[in-house]
Amino acid sequence: MSEQALNVYLNGSFVPADQACVPITDRGFQFGDSVYEVIPAYGGTPLRLTQHLDRLDNSLNAIHMTNPLSHDAWAGVLDELTAQLPGQDQQIYIQITRGAPGQRDHAIPEELAPTVVATTRALPERDAAQAMQGVNAVTLDDIRWKRCDIKTTALLGNVLAYHHARTEGADDAILVRDGQALEGTASNLFMVTNGLLITPPTGDCILPGITRDLVLELAEEEGIPYAEAAVSVVDLENADEIWLTSSTREIRAVTQLNGKPVGNGEPGALWHRMDQLLDAYKARLRLHARERTDA
Ligand SMILES: Cc1ncc(COP(=O)(O)O)c(C=O)c1O
Repeated sequence: MSEQALNVYLNGSFVPADQACVPITDRGFQFGDSVYEVIPAYGGTPLRLTQHLDRLDNSLNAIHMTNPLSHDAWAGVLDELTAQLPGQDQQIYIQITRGAPGQRDHAIPEELAPTVVATTRALPERDAAQAMQGVNAVTLDDIRWKRCDIKTTALLGNVLAYHHARTEGADDAILVRDGQALEGTASNLFMVTNGLLITPPTGDCILPGITRDLVLELAEEEGIPYAEAAVSVVDLENADEIWLTSSTREIRAVTQLNGKPVGNGEPGALWHRMDQLLDAYKARLRLHARERTDA
């Protein structure tokens, strides 16, 4: 089934993607007044749905909105959405904007129906050669705002940083504020030093990633020593391993930083171990999906 043939969820109905329209006065379009989630679904089972919906609630609360759907209602919508690609690994996208008032005005309208969108598409198959090659990253000054914990669609700072990295011949950027490395342009940051896995603590300056939490949980279960601690650029430049984590790109090893190899320039031993643990976790979700279909 082609992407175009899939239905999308828009404001309570499922409609063909090419018929899904939002007014040009939508505040998501005009102000970036909008939040979103990206949820991977393995074999159709969303990964950590509760945590994703909790984070959606937090983003909405931070911009003075409430979730128009209950978590149960979301589960029903996503079931129907993902059933269009039976058994496949997918990437669900949810976006909620403040809605479309009659005219453009900065003031937040008191009563306005939000615009609610959910789409799905097949998750691209993992490219093993690319995973082994790893990411060539550069550190860049973080020009984003002070509420990077809100998962807003106002992503111009991230977009420009990514573009800057690409024009320098790198694959991605690691964003730095006051000498501290925070996260990637669309991912969280980990480093390994002397066997210790370290990730910067959550706060206003980074997005609390769902994959980040899962990696920490897997580390805990496996007895891998870890810490949530500040990571300076100097620490990063001396790290044995660096990883970037996200829902769609999972765990990527950074093999070059600022033009120099990280460790021996190949994904490290702990990356291999964590990647396998995540693979096993995903396999359990696919099994769960098959059991639900068979039941
Ligand atoms: C800025 C930023 N940090 C971190 C992440 C990783 O979050 P998650 O693991 O929930 O995908 C993302 C994902 O899009 C992101 O955009």
